[in-house]
Amino acid sequence: MRGTSSFLIVANRLPVDRVGEKSWRRSPGGLVTAIAPVMQRRDGAWLGWTGAAGEELKPFDHDGMHLIPVPLSSMEVEFYYEGFSNATLWPLYHDVVAPPIYSRVLWDAYKAVNDRFARAAADAAAPGAVVWVQDYQLQLVPSMLRKLRPDVKIGFFLHIPFPPGELFQQLPWRRELLEGLLGADLVGFQRPGGASNFVRLCRKMLGVSAVKNDIQLDDGRTVRAEAYPISVDFGELDQLVRESHVMARAKEIRAELGDPEHVLLGVDRLDYTKGIRARLKAYGELFAEGRLKPGEAVFVQVATPTRERVEEYIRLRNDIELQVGRINGEYGEIGRAPITYMHQSFGRDELAALYSAADVMMVTPLRDGMNLVAKEYVACRHDLRGALVLSEFAGAADELRQAYLVNPYDIDGMKRSMMTAMQAPPHELGRRMRSMRRRVATHDVDRWANEFLTALES
Ligand code: ADP
Ligand code: G6P
Repeated sequence: MRGTSSFLIVANRLPVDRVGEKSWRRSPGGLVTAIAPVMQRRDGAWLGWTGAAGEELKPFDHDGMHLIPVPLSSMEVEFYYEGFSNATLWPLYHDVVAPPIYSRVLWDAYKAVNDRFARAAADAAAPGAVVWVQDYQLQLVPSMLRKLRPDVKIGFFLHIPFPPGELFQQLPWRRELLEGLLGADLVGFQRPGGASNFVRLCRKMLGVSAVKNDIQLDDGRTVRAEAYPISVDFGELDQLVRESHVMARAKEIRAELGDPEHVLLGVDRLDYTKGIRARLKAYGELFAEGRLKPGEAVFVQVATPTRERVEEYIRLRNDIELQVGRINGEYGEIGRAPITYMHQSFGRDELAALYSAADVMMVTPLRDGMNLVAKEYVACRHDLRGALVLSEFAGAADELRQAYLVNPYDIDGMKRSMMTAMQAPPHELGRRMRSMRRRVATHDVDRWANEFLTALES
């Protein structure tokens, strides 16, 4: 049996997430932010999980996209999604900033769910279709799908970092994962370093030969590994932030915060890779040292709920909430808390208003594939005001060289950069922002998708 989709996205998650029995909201994270606009402009289908356990739904249309749900049982949510994907691969691929769990039970669930996705993709794809598999949750799908459907073109894109060999080789199933990815015709990474880590590991672990980024396989196929830095829908954000209701809301936010001199902002999933703890520590010390006073600065930290049953995430939430309470308790005054903390999701309009209300955007991950929040902030600052403080360990730092670059492990360095960013004169902010906007405007998400898909199809 052959399906009818000539273009297919295969991702762990659909772009919408189940809330209650009847309604949907946008799924969290950068993958959905990037792929949804690409999909809305093309004909095709998106295959993925609804975010709820044990739910079997028929394909449906939503927001200009055709969606094909793949069910996961509650056991699979625990072992494949929370387990192997987010307690093994996620920390391992992010510099082991938390210890990865290696368990054969989790691995078995990962294989079984990847097999289900591959079968669903094989059923949905039209003859000769282009199938684009996304991210670390589905690294076995390319080779599984190739066995079922040798007629389709298979692309794979990894949204998170691909680690150096010293870390990757810890994985008991390292060969299987490399072989899984080699089922694709083109494997895309965020940074050139990820692509070269992958090629080196394939040579070493599988004994294959490679000429630059082209890996030659025994069956005569060539697999290309290349960097394609992902981006945002610059035009959409640039337009949204100029709308009068967003501009009015930005003003209102500053007033609600008590019209402080400096508004600092963090927008992240509540993830231990994002460096939230370190940035709040640096900010708290500026109050302890009297370099900032209550009422003078407010830090708005938006922390999106995420992976809430995984142990490291439970611990992180407790730590952050304790830390926020301590800083506010110690340095706040009535009606003047140094930190406004929100553990909530927001709509695009509210986020755009927050970006345009913030003088200093703090993006300080310990490791991040790209970090779209940094690019969204830049896209929202047509007024050329606002400073971006950006970690060297985010993929975005390769492109946004005019940000205030920081090492998030260096608390004193971060304090210095925060103060410099807060005190920078307008012409300096303008110079930096203009150059960063030029980069994001000319390298938006459409360009990213076109470059990847053109390379895949050629
Ligand atoms: P990650 O993919 O690791 O979550 P990114 O920074 O690349 O990190 O992407 C995060 C995406 O999620 C961005 O598009 C950002 O706007 C969105 N986002 C983050 N926090 C929220 C929130 N509280 N409400 C709505 N969207 C959010
Ligand atoms: C990151 C990952 C995505 C993931 C997203 C949200 O962006 O690269 O694959 O979808 O985080 O995480 P979640 O576990 O909620 O899907």
